Amino acid sequence: MKILILHGPSLNLLGTREPEVYGSMMLDDINNKLIELGGELGTEVKCLQSNHEGALIDALHEARTWADGVVFNPGGYTHTSVALRDAISAIRIPVVEVHLSNVYAREEFRRTSMISGVCRGKIAGFGWRSYMLGLRALVEMSA
Ligand code: DQA
Repeated sequence: MKILILHGPSLNLLGTREPEVYGSMMLDDINNKLIELGGELGTEVKCLQSNHEGALIDALHEARTWADGVVFNPGGYTHTSVALRDAISAIRIPVVEVHLSNVYAREEFRRTSMISGVCRGKIAGFGWRSYMLGLRALVEMSA
């Protein structure tokens, strides 16, 4: 099994970006944990981050040719992007939406997700563990 972990805007700054909200672990450390968990689950994990909406769309399209599923944190685009929602609808592999923070316990605008309705499921509020839970769920569901 092969899974794409896709990180959206400003997640490259994890570790220093609002650590009280997003935690102090850096993106590379999270990615390494995911690769390690993938190994335990017999799953190849590829990680990618972009600050650009079009690049995220390209990555989703490409994933359809090689991945069995995607764990996706679209960052701020979660709340705005019809284009990302359409890209998820267009690919026929399962996508799990993840967020480090509990988006429901924050500003009102974060309660709206453009993508939840086209995702297989959603995990939010567990910090870096949200990604681990998302990966585990995807692998178990696809087995
Ligand atoms: C986030 C939540 C979003 O509202 C925010 O814009 C982010 C990160 C999270 O992981 O908690 O960039 O997706």
